[in-house]
Amino acid sequence: MTGRLPACVIDVGTGYTKLGFAANKEPQFIIPSAIAIKESAKVGDQSARRLTKGVEDLDFFIGDEAFDATGYAVKYPVRHGLVEDWDLMERFLEQCIFKYLRAEPEDHYFLLTEPPLNTPENREYTAEIMFESFNVPGLYIAVQAVLALAASWASRSVSERTLTGIVVDSGDGVTHVIPVAEGYVIGSCIKHIPIAGRNITYFIQSLLREREIGIPPEQSLETAKAIKERYCYICPDIAKEFAKYDSDSKWMKKFEGMNSITKQPFVVDVGYERFLGPEIFFHPEFSNPDFTTPLSEIVDTVIQNCPIDVRRPLYNNIVLSGGSTMFRDFGRRLQRDIKRTVDIRLQTSETLSGGRIKPKPIDVHVISHHMQRYAVWFGGSMLASTPEFYQVCHTKADYEEYGPSICRHNPVFGTMT
Ligand SMILES: Nc1ncnc2c1ncn2[C@@H]1O[C@H](COP(=O)(O)OP(=O)(O)OP(=O)(O)O)[C@@H](O)[C@H]1O
Ligand SMILES: [Mg+2]
Repeated sequence: MTGRLPACVIDVGTGYTKLGFAANKEPQFIIPSAIAIKESAKVGDQSARRLTKGVEDLDFFIGDEAFDATGYAVKYPVRHGLVEDWDLMERFLEQCIFKYLRAEPEDHYFLLTEPPLNTPENREYTAEIMFESFNVPGLYIAVQAVLALAASWASRSVSERTLTGIVVDSGDGVTHVIPVAEGYVIGSCIKHIPIAGRNITYFIQSLLREREIGIPPEQSLETAKAIKERYCYICPDIAKEFAKYDSDSKWMKKFEGMNSITKQPFVVDVGYERFLGPEIFFHPEFSNPDFTTPLSEIVDTVIQNCPIDVRRPLYNNIVLSGGSTMFRDFGRRLQRDIKRTVDIRLQTSETLSGGRIKPKPIDVHVISHHMQRYAVWFGGSMLASTPEFYQVCHTKADYEEYGPSICRHNPVFGTMT
């Protein structure tokens, strides 16, 4: 492996793209998955169009720059984790590679990530872009959930490296609960939950709107998001938490912001929002009357739907991943609530059998670790730095011989290292 440049690892999410080089602990860049393009009218000034012909394709911005560019339309190539517009995606990747990573794609192997239930056709499109437009020497498309499992090996409480577990991945647009057995996703059992970071932000925004008057309307969303990321946490019991806040004002926080137009500072009192915001994971009915199942019950149901021989290992290895699992005590609350459901079930079956069957208790273990925020990227960075990675990658030579269909399947690896 000597002399080889490190692989590039790119995880394009609905909200943010994480990019960097393999073997690093953190992504070099985290940028919004946004692209700003000039929406040129097809009719109009011919001479002006002739002048820009050939370069208009290069006239675009991605990431934070996309929001600052005036006169451009901001678009999101990824929606709910899946790529929606391949043309935009290609341009997005172009700047990721050349402008951000400053890498020559011909010199690096690439590890890209895909959401659960991505289609084989999507993998082919990805292969076409990577091999034909960027001319990369090797490509591997990894399942995000499997990378998140690998990332949890960084946690000290995990003694053995296993690719069996259930991943609770909550990002900006969607939360998935994904069971994985020995590196293979059990696709038929995956569940999506329509509650993720963005919904919590909206919920906090609506709570603040009812009460606080000083927030400039055009900044209310970003204020709610900042408050969420800075002050929110998960409490064990909301009734007690309300009482705690009512008896002592030390729990209240003050958020200081600045009006972006007048440059005047404004102050927001942050109270119940701190614990009510993320509580919608466990009481979704607070924000969405159509969806009322708590996250803990969904995880339990997913495991119960899986083949019986993996259920115990799954309960034992519930792994968190994504920005919206960063709330303090998220793991602890999830573990407690799942444990309750499981214990009640065991108790019931004991009672129903008249005390003749004594089921063995089930260990419920939710794993939090410090790489959780970028778990998918970190898992990718770790696996792409092993020699095994280069053996499972699809190479340019294979692509030229067999075509994009080789990327429909990406072999599982990583358990041996
Ligand atoms: N410390 C924090 N506490 C709570 N939420 C956070 C924190 N940091 C980031 N977030 C939230 O996490 C979300 C982004 O997470 P992530 O980067 O995992 O999503 P993504 O990969 O872009 O989206 P997806 O996985 O849905 O495709 C945002 O909603 C952001 O507000
Ligand atoms: Mg993600």
